[in-house]
Amino acid sequence: MSPSAAAVATNQSDDSDLQQTILKLANLKPIGQGRSNKSIETGPQLEWLEKLPQPTRNRFEKYGIDLSRGYPIIPDNKDIPKFVDEAFEIRNKEYPYIERGKNADPEKKALFGAATEVIDLTKHIGTEIVGLQLSDLNDKQKDELALLVAERVVVFFRDQDLSPQKQLELGNYWGQVERHPQAPHVPLNNTTDPEEIAKGSGISVIWRHFFNEFYGFKPSFKKGGISSGWHTDLVHEFQPAGITHLHNDTIPKTGGDTAWVSGYAAYDKLSPALQQFLDGKEAIFVSAHEYLDRENPLKGPKRIERAHPLVRTHPTTGWKSLFVNRAMTRSIVGLEPEESKVILEYLFQVYEKNLDIQVRFKWQPTKEGLGTSAIWDNRISQHFAIGDYEAEDLRHGTRVTSLAEVPYFDPNSKSQRQALGLSLD
Ligand code: SIN
Repeated sequence: MSPSAAAVATNQSDDSDLQQTILKLANLKPIGQGRSNKSIETGPQLEWLEKLPQPTRNRFEKYGIDLSRGYPIIPDNKDIPKFVDEAFEIRNKEYPYIERGKNADPEKKALFGAATEVIDLTKHIGTEIVGLQLSDLNDKQKDELALLVAERVVVFFRDQDLSPQKQLELGNYWGQVERHPQAPHVPLNNTTDPEEIAKGSGISVIWRHFFNEFYGFKPSFKKGGISSGWHTDLVHEFQPAGITHLHNDTIPKTGGDTAWVSGYAAYDKLSPALQQFLDGKEAIFVSAHEYLDRENPLKGPKRIERAHPLVRTHPTTGWKSLFVNRAMTRSIVGLEPEESKVILEYLFQVYEKNLDIQVRFKWQPTKEGLGTSAIWDNRISQHFAIGDYEAEDLRHGTRVTSLAEVPYFDPNSKSQRQALGLSLD
């Protein structure tokens, strides 16, 4: 062997040794999970089953959710991708998507006709539908609901008797349901295939008490907590999130509200000159979860990165939306880092500071033992979970997210106010 071939062979074997060592270390604890030094046991959580709030337990037992192994289920560490390139490859190619709202009746007669009341909570965002069970919707009503969500950004339903299975079925109707490689989920017993089980059920768990203690997050009055920050779900996906449906089955008497803000209205707040500058630009979006960089594993956790249009056109309404959020938009493609930083900061503030384009929702049902659902469109919104409740104020929900189209910008599309003939001043 020549000296240079020997050197290459030695380097390759060093690289492979390093990779093996990194993998061994990564297998000790899922990457990026937890701020504490505590080890994390993945899989079903038996100890947490005992802490499940009673209303949640009642709901799960009523609908035959198998809690026998524990709750929630965290994907097994061996199934969690360790390197960012592996995580990037998940759903990294175009798959079919049907835009359900597109051909719905613009008057939404089937949906509104079945409700006892339809209340617009603010002028620009948020509608509550009263007197209707989500579990009873037929396909026509589901299409009309998708259209309503595309127009009003977020739609609420109190007093729901909704099984996790039905929630999943609704999510599957509106798009491919995201199955998260790391997030805790609700167990479903409709498969024995280990690969399918490893991919999760698609029903993720929103349980702050669990997240804080299990992952070692330290929420505080001063700093807030998990999801207490403006964000949009799953923007790093090749086909990012469309409709998210959060059903809260345990709700504190006071506190734990959520706020949403409209991306259509955020776009309409900008001057025509800034709108024109941003139209057609792309931004870099990152994932919430972290992985390792294969090229530089010792550098620390790295997020998935993906470019998407910064102004996107909604396929149902045809309206433009400003597609950025503070938590996950890192830079504007083609600008110098300092330029990008200044402009993004301004755009984040347009979303965050304009209360007239936000809605804050109190989740309390009017009837004991029932839950409340919020259904929103991530393509045209940001949301913020307000963490003003303590460990003794129980709050638990199940969340299903339907992935939508590959984002696009149609240069011929209009802003919401333009399309509706409203004043642009
Ligand atoms: C989320 O950020 O999706 C959770 C919102 C909430 O808990 O209200």
